[in-house]
Amino acid sequence: MKTIIPQDLGPQAFYRLLNSSVAPRPIAFVSTISKEGHVNLAPYSFFNIVGFNPPMLVFSPTITRHGQKKHSLLNVEEVPEVTINLVSYPMVEQTSLASAEFDRHVNEFMKAGFTAVQSERVRPPRVAEAPVAFECLVRQLMPLGENAGAGTMVICEVVLAHFQDYIFGENGQIDPHKIDLVGRLGADWYVRANDAALFDVARPQMGVGVDALPVSVRHSNILTGNDLGKLGSSKTLPTPDEITAYHQSAPVFALRDEARYGCQYLPDLQHLRAKQLLAEGKVEEAWLVLLSY
Ligand SMILES: Cc1cc2nc3c(=O)[nH]c(=O)nc-3n(C[C@H](O)[C@H](O)[C@H](O)COP(=O)(O)O)c2cc1C
Repeated sequence: MKTIIPQDLGPQAFYRLLNSSVAPRPIAFVSTISKEGHVNLAPYSFFNIVGFNPPMLVFSPTITRHGQKKHSLLNVEEVPEVTINLVSYPMVEQTSLASAEFDRHVNEFMKAGFTAVQSERVRPPRVAEAPVAFECLVRQLMPLGENAGAGTMVICEVVLAHFQDYIFGENGQIDPHKIDLVGRLGADWYVRANDAALFDVARPQMGVGVDALPVSVRHSNILTGNDLGKLGSSKTLPTPDEITAYHQSAPVFALRDEARYGCQYLPDLQHLRAKQLLAEGKVEEAWLVLLSY
């Protein structure tokens, strides 16, 4: 275990650790406009939702390597309006191109090959290719650190939102497979939130808790923390009658025979069977297998 005081390491080295461990982060593709009307577009992964009523988003431009404010920040100081566009996998290389340090008045929509669409409630245009675009008013600029040396947090209220039709599933909700978002990690790493990267976790009940499991199960070499979490999320434990009934059932006899004739350790077989049942979503039966011997 490395235990570090940030100041001992220095800002750049600690930033690399921070950036690689607070990850993956969503990416805000932010358009802004200067008071003279020059449009800017740049990605920011220091980005998140911070409230929903009203809907509030934040992103943070740090200072440049030369100690200067980034163009996005200079623009919002002049015109406190932005569009925040979400980045899907088909956009990621062009988004990266837009992050290069072009001169102040270079329009990254043109440099990176994105289509600018006139916004309705704010002056900066939004990105046509984005699956979702938010038109936002900047409510507050919050300098971070001494003399804003760490950058500035831009606090934005969403006043209009655009969602592409193709991102919705049949249930009317945004389908993560269809929106195909990307996230940012450390160094040059990104993650694509699709295919094998996606999985669901059942909403927890006020479960019995992992501490309700027998000690031998809690310290199992076969069951993982995720398995214990599923067991602990059960609302109730099997009753003694249910356990007795299961004890007399064919699956229990089969497992006992497997242990006896295969010279295997019965608790290991129990844990393996419970693990398999948990993978199939059969949490109640997994509990019975673990309590029925
Ligand atoms: C995916 C991605 C995420 C980024 N996130 C941030 C960030 O959160 N804060 C930041 O200051 N720079 C971030 N950058 C770097 C800026 O995009 C880059 O400095 C850009 O030139 C700023 O543009 P501007 O000066 O036109 O505002 C990121 C770059 C990429 C590719």
